[in-house]
Amino acid sequence: MKLFIDSANVEQIKKINNDYPVDGVTTNPSLIAKENRSLFPLIKEIRNIIGETKLLFVQTISVDSESIVNEALRIWEILNRNVIIKIPVTVEGIRAIGILKKHGVKTLATTVYTPMNAYIAAKAGADFVAPYVNRIENLNGNGTQVIKEIRQIFSNTKFSSEIISASFKNVQQIKAVSLSGSDGITVNPQLIEKFLEIPSIKEDVQQFNLDWETVRDEVDSN
Ligand code: G3P
Repeated sequence: MKLFIDSANVEQIKKINNDYPVDGVTTNPSLIAKENRSLFPLIKEIRNIIGETKLLFVQTISVDSESIVNEALRIWEILNRNVIIKIPVTVEGIRAIGILKKHGVKTLATTVYTPMNAYIAAKAGADFVAPYVNRIENLNGNGTQVIKEIRQIFSNTKFSSEIISASFKNVQQIKAVSLSGSDGITVNPQLIEKFLEIPSIKEDVQQFNLDWETVRDEVDSN
């Protein structure tokens, strides 16, 4: 299962990319806006940090399909065709995904709330779909169940689109989708760090070191 950093903050991306086995970075307009920087210099800096082989996702903000396609093609060319274009699953977005497929542009259908959102995006040609787990649960939905059903539909219809689950507020949600057939997860840096934040690990390591100290002289002199 792939792991992506959901952030546009270069300092956080540098740290997580260095410390953890990540497969790339996902951004969206809200994350970019927080950084208060121009889009392309920021995105290019993120590309430099993660290198050429990891995946980088950039979202369009246009509303009608023609503008989405033009914006996507511009991002695609500026990023040397090494970027995946995120497009929300509106009617216009779905049309744009179909057109971009013909241009050979890779896309991720975002703001996925239901299995049928994912189905229509995959059928239009999206390479990835991103169900918003926490936002689904805030609407009294079951994020994990949505992932399971998308998995089932993709298997039944033999779609090759990958499910990259997004929008998490805790590690339990991440574990649940990981057990439900998600191909990948995109997680904010603070939550990725929680994967290893288990006090017992630190305590165990301290105890191992203490125990080792008591015999070290003896072992060293043999
Ligand atoms: O990648 C989509 C994600 O950023 C949405 O997450 O936490 O704003 O619901 P959130």
